[in-house]
Amino acid sequence: MSTATPPRTVATVTSERGELVLQRRADGALELRVNGVFVMDTAQTSTERALAHAALDLERPHRVLVGGLGLGFTTAELLRDPRVRSVLVAEIEPAVLVWMTDGTVPGGVQVVSDDRVRVQLADVRDVVADQAPGSLDAILLDVDNGPDFLVLDGNAGLYREAFVRTCLVRLRPGGVVVIWSSTESPDLESALAHAAGSYTKRCHQVDLAGRLETYTLYSVTRSDL
Ligand SMILES: C[S@@+](CC[C@H](N)C(=O)[O-])C[C@H]1O[C@@H](n2cnc3c(N)ncnc32)[C@H](O)[C@@H]1O
Repeated sequence: MSTATPPRTVATVTSERGELVLQRRADGALELRVNGVFVMDTAQTSTERALAHAALDLERPHRVLVGGLGLGFTTAELLRDPRVRSVLVAEIEPAVLVWMTDGTVPGGVQVVSDDRVRVQLADVRDVVADQAPGSLDAILLDVDNGPDFLVLDGNAGLYREAFVRTCLVRLRPGGVVVIWSSTESPDLESALAHAAGSYTKRCHQVDLAGRLETYTLYSVTRSDL
């Protein structure tokens, strides 16, 4: 018989996309689930932070767009670097912003109240489309578990060639689009190669409470245009 302590629900909300649950596990970590599917936790955040570093590796990471906010680790990592002047965060779930603002997520308020941060409650597709051509240094996309393990079916288009092209146009030459994925995805690789000519793939091994997984960060650079 298992003696594992079940997680304790910290907050829950139902939106038009389904049920969001923030729960506290026995190991003390907070975990975000959407429609019962694991989205992220506060115990293993190395790839959320590595996503930020893909922008910080640029010589000039001044203006960055992040999709989505989640529990704020990518955005917090960007803010540690004084070269970052503005971070526009697209977040589709209003409850996530509330939990980051009202103290439910420890440290959240420092992230969202930083003068350089603006959170727009909208689909990242629309937020990207609204940006002026050539106006961003990096677009960092971590809105779902990747194209082959979607939490929200409506996010499938974010991993296709047309949206990657839309992102590339919003970058200044030399800027990067970086996409987090829980799996290596041949379809995404093909979309990136068609949109940008080439792509870079970095695989990160992560330890999820004793279970090893490999997450992938894909990036493309706006070269000439
Ligand atoms: C994995 S979490 C992001 C984790 C984040 N990188 C961090 O460091 O905490 C995914 C977030 O994207 C949001 N999201 C999902 N689909 C979205 C979309 N189409 N546009 C904007 N945000 C979206 C979810 O509500 C969730 O907060």
